[in-house]
Order: sequence, then C-alpha cells, then structure tokens
Amino acid sequence: MREWTREEKYRYLKDPQELLELYGKISKSAYRQTYHIQAVTGLMNDPNGFVWYENQWHLFYQWCPWGAVHGLKHWYHIVSKDLVTWKNLGVCLLPDQNDGYDNKGVYSGSAMPIGDKMYLYYTGNHRDADWTRKAYTCLARLGRGGWPEKYPLPLFGSNPDYTEHQRDPKIICLPGSDRYYMIIGAQTKDKRGCALIYSSEDLQHGWTFAGELKVPGFENFGDMWECPSIERLGGRDVLLFCPQHLTIPGRGGSQNHNGYILGNMDWETLTFKPDGQFHVLDFGFDSYAAACANNLQEPDKAILIAWMGVPDLSYPTDEEDWSGCLTLPRELTVRKRRLIQQPLPELKKLRDERLSTQADEQGVFALPKGAEIEVEVRPGPFSLSLFTKADGSGGLTISCDEAQKEITVDRGRMETRFNISEGEERKRPLEEGLYHLRIFIDSSSVEIFVNDGEAVFTSRVFPTAEEHFCHVEGDAFVRMWTMKRAVKEEFLI
Ligand code: FRU
Repeated sequence: MREWTREEKYRYLKDPQELLELYGKISKSAYRQTYHIQAVTGLMNDPNGFVWYENQWHLFYQWCPWGAVHGLKHWYHIVSKDLVTWKNLGVCLLPDQNDGYDNKGVYSGSAMPIGDKMYLYYTGNHRDADWTRKAYTCLARLGRGGWPEKYPLPLFGSNPDYTEHQRDPKIICLPGSDRYYMIIGAQTKDKRGCALIYSSEDLQHGWTFAGELKVPGFENFGDMWECPSIERLGGRDVLLFCPQHLTIPGRGGSQNHNGYILGNMDWETLTFKPDGQFHVLDFGFDSYAAACANNLQEPDKAILIAWMGVPDLSYPTDEEDWSGCLTLPRELTVRKRRLIQQPLPELKKLRDERLSTQADEQGVFALPKGAEIEVEVRPGPFSLSLFTKADGSGGLTISCDEAQKEITVDRGRMETRFNISEGEERKRPLEEGLYHLRIFIDSSSVEIFVNDGEAVFTSRVFPTAEEHFCHVEGDAFVRMWTMKRAVKEEFLI
C-alpha cells in the first residue's frame, strides 16, 4: 500500500488541471459506481451540509483530492432536484493556505438556509507549525450561485475543558423556538466521548456554550463521539452519533460505529433521556457518519444519507487512488422503538429494464452492473448469494435461519476480501423471520433493506469480472431491474 508523506497528504490544490490525469485514470476503474454519489477524484468520506435550499437539494462531501488518503479535506458540492440524480458543482470550501483557522482541513458540518443565503457550519481543523491540533467552529455563507464567503473569524474556538477533539457541528432549529442550537462531537480530558451544545438567537453571531449534553447511562461509551445530531421524528427524539473505540458484540473487530438512541430531549436541561439502548444504525460492514437533511419541507420527516466507509480502514480501490461513496438516501420512521430505514420512494424512478431472474441449469442468473432486486421470501430455509461465479459458488450470501429468526450477511467467500479483521459476517435477529428484501447493487456496493426497513446492511464489495451471478435457494419470488445512471462522471473541480 502506498505510503503518503505529510506534505503529499496536505498539499494545497492550486489548479484543477493538477487532477485531470488522476481523474482520467480513475474513471476507467471497473468499480466506479453508476447511481451512487462518489468522489470526483481521491477520497470522499462524510456527507455534509445536506439541506433543501432554493428549490433543490444541496449536499457536500468531505473530499481529499489527491488519492485514497485522509489528508487535506475540502467540501465538494453536489445538487439534486429529486434526490435521485445528482449534478457536480465543484469544490465549495477550501482550506486556508495562509495559516487560517482551517489551514489543515475544512472538516464536517451542516447547513441552514435563511432568506436567500445558506449558512455552512464546519470545523476548521487547524494545525500549528509543530502539528498541534486546534479545532474551530467556523461559518461560511453561500448566496445564489455564488462563491462562498468564509467569515474571517470563527464563531468560537475549542472549549478548553475538553481535548481538541471537538468537531462536526450540526445546526438545529427547533420549531417555534427563537433559539438555534448546535451539537458538536467531543472528547472529555479523561477520554470519554460526549457531545457539546452551543446556542444562539442568531445564526451568525452570539454563539455561547450551553453545556455538555447529558445522556444518562452513556457517560462512558467510546472515547470520542463523531457527527452527533438530534432529530425529531414521530413525536420522539433521536440522538444519532458515532462512538469510537468501542467494541460491540456481533460487530467483529470493528471499533467505529454509527448508531442511535431513541428518547426525549429536554433543551432546558440539555438532557437526552434514553428510552432504550444504543442501536446500530446499519448492520453491514461499511457505513458511518450518517447525516439527516435540514430544512425539510415536511415536518416530522427525516432523510438520511451516510458515508459507505469506515474510518481507519482501507479499500481495494485505494490502489487506484480513489475511495468512498455515499449510501442511497433513506427515509426514516420510528416503529416499535426502533428506527426504520427505507429507500426513498423516488428511487423507484431509477428502475430501467426488468430482467429475467430465471435460473439456468447451473441454478444461477446473471447480474448486471447496477440493479435493484426485490425478493418476497416464503417460509422455509432461504439463501441468496450475490456476485457468485457462473457455477453459483462464492459470493456474498444473505441467509436466514428460520428457527432462530436471524438473518446473516457473509461476504467472506468473495474473491476480493478486505478488512477481514472487522469480521466477514454480520447477523441481526428479525422479529418475524425474513419475508422481504430490497437489494441495491452497484459496481462496488450492496445495500440490503430487510422486511420494509426493519434492518439495513450496507457494504462495499469488489467483485471480479467472473463474479456477476446470483444464486437463490429456497422458496422466493424474485424480480430485478437494471438501474439508470444517476451520477454523471463529470470532471468539475
Ligand atoms: C468522521 C470524521 C469527522 C471529521 C471528518 C474529517 O468520519 O472523522 O469527525 O470532521 O471525518 O474528514
């Protein structure tokens, strides 16, 4: 694997032409996605600033232009009218080259529109000459079609009572309240993960520290919380966050998790009272830093999108100098004290041609590069293997143990195995056994929605040219569609 020097990782982007050759190279990769958002070049990680503004959806992603490395982060901007097809707008927020507050990265954050302006809240990742880290909460303003104006001074610096791991501001606007809140991921000096709350009456000024979020029972839960947010949904509050360096039974050696707690948020006392335990948001292998859209037109609705990757891991396309993509957008609801995630109804627009799922004499049918597969599973033993070889061997297998009412996803029999230390199998109990699957495959990913959103498994997969068949065992009705291209390969920096 390539070793990057600090100079290479944190090189400033001077001219888009510097990336043209790299773009030419990666756009030939067999693993470039066809209907998922992916990095124009280099590495993408968290979705940022997801918001409805001026009649379209805006989304940004953490972007390091140079290759598959967590180096100098920018915000790259994309837009969509329907959350299905997306257009590149180019880089939006660049790190300051003159030792500014974000000299070593424009880190994650969120957006809120007021009037004809959109306000972008982000973490300025500053490094002193001796590489000491400092975190600032910064603001930029984007007007119609314009270049963003960064505010010359940060809204506030780091809170000295915590370590410098303070980042990822999520701006929250409570209906009927004249105050805005901001929730920030942080770490206490004795290395416990937590969230800090700031508040102000004005989006642009007067932000003050309101206190540490109290979450009874979760005082010692991982050593850092990344990307926290509080969403209101179905009359409940949901605290979404990514606790780090925590081992969760059934999650292999994985140390970084994205999950949620349902409960009630009291903004007076800054207490989130949990109603139940911490739940993993996505049971697959590659999902992190989920963000919900702000400024939705319908109250009590939430749309979530996540990074299809995990910190500190490497992926096979790292060799090709690119990595990362985003999940499909999902609609969230609450059912029986759990979050239910379903693909947005609009995504049905992507279905193109209906293909046969009639098995040949080897018991398999061919998979196109991008497809949606819908399966009605009837009682009895069941398994479905994606990306098998022509004889039905290998692949990623979804199976259900009827007696235990438990679904298993196993990617350990694919030719290209990666991040094996994280475990190659994930399981999840199902209330009434398995009855329905909606599966979205793209060139290098799979998202499996189980039983109308009861569970989701999101994973990267890197099938070889031979691995493009599907093998079903058990009693099931399977339909499959090819998918239209939804993301243009467009070199726009
Ligand atoms: C999460 C994260 C954030 C940070 C960003 C940097 O993946 O580590 O906490 O702001 O990525 O790219």
